[in-house]
Amino acid sequence: MKFATITGWGKCLPPAILNNDDISTFLDTSDEWIASRTGIKERRVSHVPVSDLAHVASVRALAAAGVDAEDVDLIIFGSCTPDEAVPNTASRVQLLLGIKSAASFDLNTACTSGMYALSVASSMIQSGAARTALVIGAEVITTIQDWTDRNVAVLFGDGAAAFVLQGTDNDEGLLADKLGCFAESRDILRVNGIGMRYIDGRTILGTIWWDFLGQEIFKKAVMGMSEASEEAITKSGLSTGQIDLVVPHQANLRILDSVVKRLGVTPERVFVNIQKYGNMSSATAPVALVEAIEEGFVKPGTHILMPAFGGGLTYSAHVIRWGERVTPVRLTDIDLPPCEKSGLELVQELMRRPRAGGPY
Ligand code: UT7
Repeated sequence: MKFATITGWGKCLPPAILNNDDISTFLDTSDEWIASRTGIKERRVSHVPVSDLAHVASVRALAAAGVDAEDVDLIIFGSCTPDEAVPNTASRVQLLLGIKSAASFDLNTACTSGMYALSVASSMIQSGAARTALVIGAEVITTIQDWTDRNVAVLFGDGAAAFVLQGTDNDEGLLADKLGCFAESRDILRVNGIGMRYIDGRTILGTIWWDFLGQEIFKKAVMGMSEASEEAITKSGLSTGQIDLVVPHQANLRILDSVVKRLGVTPERVFVNIQKYGNMSSATAPVALVEAIEEGFVKPGTHILMPAFGGGLTYSAHVIRWGERVTPVRLTDIDLPPCEKSGLELVQELMRRPRAGGPY
């Protein structure tokens, strides 16, 4: 196939909301500081495992594509908060979807995971290695949050989105991408306490703290997203003026402003939903694209630019030409189980987890 195009889309946001005032009940911060420095007003806290969020988003995406689950032969689960290391989380999504056999794997490049997954799935479809792919960006960052650290606790939230990708000979879908990583800066964004290097008999669940040099990350984010965007646009054969819509990773409204200013894109062409969800890591840009479609910003033939950035420090940009259909083929009434707790109550439970070791 010449191109891989998005034929289905779905999101899943857990219902419990944690707003800025909730956070200021346990941290020295304020709605005024968070909203003015980041653009974030509230975020979601999941009451279920990340695979459940991914499953609901995937069922919605399959319905939107009008594709039966058994036709999926590739599942890429983009995330840095999988249910567990082994088995991978893609296989649980596969099981929940009732798919007998598919190539299923997890991909972790932190906040860019969903976008890296889009590149890999597109290439596998174009090469003939896969026919129908499910690309997922899903995250439960609240579970690895250091709720004592106001520098990071205010920035992140939970969510998931999924896309169905299929081959086409039409000139549409992913036109060009640029993936990269500033590995020399990998130490400026680290979640300590998760991973095999911490299994030394000392560390247990709950001992999590972040290295997070906000201003350095900010500068690298602007540079990575701008340069990758310029390269992807050039590779696509389009000019910046032909980009109709920018759907970026949303970590900070000021980062978005700087990126679009550098690219010379007018603000009305930029889709923003950071105020509702904060930074959902790998789910951020995928959820934003789903909402841009649902809200009518994506029309047949729309040229979409999706710049992203994350720990690693990874960066990416994708140029997509949308196909003809902007409405779902089918709808589904699948949903998460109800949540009886508020976002604040869920976070208070997370804060009560046992701790050992670490710099507390
Ligand atoms: O997906 C990629 C991951 N992350 C990012 O892209 C984040 C990139 N960085 C940023 O978004 C921004 O750097 C932050 C939002 C994290 C911080 O904004 P800033 O304008 O760079 O603030 P700052 O770090 O320079 O801190 C300014 C002040 C400090 O106080 P002093 O030293 O001036 O007295 C901080 O201690 O604000 C203080 N501060 C806070 N105050 C209230 C830091 N966090 C908070 C907070 N509430 N939550």
